[in-house]
Amino acid sequence: MENNDRTLDYIIEEMIDTVKNSKDEVFEIAEDSRKEYDQLNQELAILKDDVGTVIEEGDHLEAKSNIARQKLSEVSKNFHQYSELKIKKVYDEAHQYQSELLVTRDKERALRKRRDELELRLKSLEQMVERADRLVGKISVVLNYLSEDFKNVTDLIHDAHEKQQFGLKIIEAQEEERRRLSREMHDGPAQMLANIMLRSEIVDRTYKKGDMDSAVKEMRSIRKMIRDSLYEVRRIIYDLRPMALDDLGLIPTIKKYISTLEDKHPNIYFNNKQSHDARLASQYEVALFRLIQESIQNAIKHAEADSIKVDLDITCQRVIVIISDNGKGFDQTQKKEKSFGIIGMQERIEMLDGNMKINSKVGQGTKIHIKIPLNQENIHTK
Ligand SMILES: Nc1ncnc2c1ncn2[C@@H]1O[C@H](COP(=O)(O)OP(=O)(O)OP(=O)(O)O)[C@@H](O)[C@H]1O
Ligand SMILES: [Mg+2]
Repeated sequence: MENNDRTLDYIIEEMIDTVKNSKDEVFEIAEDSRKEYDQLNQELAILKDDVGTVIEEGDHLEAKSNIARQKLSEVSKNFHQYSELKIKKVYDEAHQYQSELLVTRDKERALRKRRDELELRLKSLEQMVERADRLVGKISVVLNYLSEDFKNVTDLIHDAHEKQQFGLKIIEAQEEERRRLSREMHDGPAQMLANIMLRSEIVDRTYKKGDMDSAVKEMRSIRKMIRDSLYEVRRIIYDLRPMALDDLGLIPTIKKYISTLEDKHPNIYFNNKQSHDARLASQYEVALFRLIQESIQNAIKHAEADSIKVDLDITCQRVIVIISDNGKGFDQTQKKEKSFGIIGMQERIEMLDGNMKINSKVGQGTKIHIKIPLNQENIHTK
């Protein structure tokens, strides 16, 4: 899955790269077209000037040619009045103007054609630049989407994967817990009971032999064994789920729990500031107990602290729990493979819409701040 995450990242990077390149290319096309547009525009201005000039020239020539033709027709009507030389001159002149006029009109036509072509080309260039600009805008949107929103997809997939892994780990942890329990039952109460069985047979025999003193002594030792077994069984039951939680409620259960830890850690202080004596809904009491239990366990297991403090403050609107120790602290960015305590705490808190802040720095102790909102429905008055 880690690999898949990376593959997806890679694909997204590639897509972003490709889209970025396309954007640059389209931008370049737009720039080239803009340059060509400017050039052609200048050319068009010159061309328009030329067209004007050539039209003027043509008009001028036409006027001259008309005058020459008039002259020619007059000379032709009265040709006996003119010398042959004069006639030829008038004729040549008319002919000259006529052909010059033809050439100029041809030139005008060619220039006009080129002008119209240029105008068409300019229009299509203009449209192309517009389209390219619009395309660059659209590509930018896609690019943003890819590099911002789409990136979150990887995170989402990663989260979902972590949740799934977490589910599997919970099952594993449950199995491990069962294994531990069966071992504890086997090594503790089961063995003690077998021992008691044996011892009671000894009592039976000594009693039959009439050795009362030994029988009484044996009975005393059996009683001690029964007491120890009872303690063990109670402890195991308590670890499974403190019955006191249902019977007595959260605060007495926490106090009882802390008192069972006295031999493991003598300085655990509990401070309760509950402003009313109502009970919380069962899932809240269980969650709070487990949160406090895990935090205390962590402080005992990892912190090497002199003292551990639990502050509980319950009002009608919310519960605040602060668990602090003055131990060695830890770096929260370093994730441990087989550690589920804190992840489990987070899950429980999330389910109740609460939040948790852990303040811990190596060498400076740890302070866990938990806040869970309450409302009328979660509080049961006695
Ligand atoms: N109060 C603390 N002081 C120092 N280090 C801590 C404390 N609480 C947690 N840690 C560190 O954070 C790690 C993760 O804690 P977490 O409760 O998630 O797992 P764990 O205690 O190692 O195992 P698990 O709770 O699953 O039995 C611990 O292994 C420990 O290194
Ligand atoms: Mg733990």
